[in-house]
Amino acid sequence: MAIISSKKQPQEPEQPQRRVSASAHKSPQAPPAQNLLQPQAAADELLKQEENIRPQRFADYIGQKDLKEVLDIAIKAAKVRGETLDHLLLYGPPGLGKTTMSLILATEMGVDCKITSAPALERPRDIVGLLMSLKPGEVLFIDEIHRLSRMSEEILYPAMEDYRVDITIGKGSSAKTRSLQLPRFTLVGATTRMGALSSPLRDRFGLIQRLRFYEPDELSQIVLRTAQLLQTTITDDGTEEIARRSRGTPRIANRLLKRVRDYAQVKAAGPITQSLAAEALQLFQVDPCGLDWTDRRMLSVMIEQFNGGPVGLETMAAVTGEDTQTIEEVYEPYLMQISYLHRTPRGRVATPAAYKHLGYTLPNEQLSLLP
Ligand code: ADE
Repeated sequence: MAIISSKKQPQEPEQPQRRVSASAHKSPQAPPAQNLLQPQAAADELLKQEENIRPQRFADYIGQKDLKEVLDIAIKAAKVRGETLDHLLLYGPPGLGKTTMSLILATEMGVDCKITSAPALERPRDIVGLLMSLKPGEVLFIDEIHRLSRMSEEILYPAMEDYRVDITIGKGSSAKTRSLQLPRFTLVGATTRMGALSSPLRDRFGLIQRLRFYEPDELSQIVLRTAQLLQTTITDDGTEEIARRSRGTPRIANRLLKRVRDYAQVKAAGPITQSLAAEALQLFQVDPCGLDWTDRRMLSVMIEQFNGGPVGLETMAAVTGEDTQTIEEVYEPYLMQISYLHRTPRGRVATPAAYKHLGYTLPNEQLSLLP
């Protein structure tokens, strides 16, 4: 079981990569995957050195203003009362800072944070062991909490409500149940799929908060902050160019900055400027809106083969070679955020903005399909 304590080695938990279904296959024109735009953490982003660029306190954390305000009040109130923080559920697309927020929360409360993810808690004994290792006040972060097994979830209920684990000793008619008391702790659950969470689990969280995509100016500030930490010079328009192509996601912004930094080092001696960033990101096939090959293919298939839609999710998956979950959780949220795609009851529809971005003319009848 991968459990990481904030005291020793804080890291991102393992996360699924963009999945490609076994049966589907990509079109032969698909370029080699650069994966620069995938919002999940890549292996090298789990390294300790990445911790240097992760904000440690609310004061360093850019964006998510409403969420910070809510948590700041909850933390202050809990401290005044000398209590632990209520259990917190964070939801939203990957890469927006759920783990970071949990680590900051623990730091602000002056406690440690243990980090794990639901797939690592498959067996009841994994979650029991983890719960029993908690110290008073600690924060337990469970990523992808919607993937907890039924049995693990049921162990969590009394732990969340009464700080108690019920364990069964022995088998059959001689089996006995014993209750063990746990110290008070705060569970922070994170999910990209709020709808997949069971309601008994959802109802046990005192605070339920959503993380939103970041605004371009927030991403520019994040790029500038990271550039300073990496001792890289960048102009204001250089930060804006990277921010614009980062899909509203800090993890992607920082990753693009590092690739542009490499490019600048090899091709130019000076700072990262707008033209240099644009040149580098064009080379990496990240377009000016942050779309990659798969985004563009999804939209162009909708436009060319289905007159802009509506197109069903399964059809999109079959055509692009991505699985339905990846389309729903990774690609569509950003395409909807920038209003290039709408989900309608009859299927997905490409918007006039998508037509324009890809250089297509919008047929009149398509307008009537849009909300
Ligand atoms: N690095 C990644 N996310 C960040 C954020 N929200 N604020 C500052 N630096 C970050």
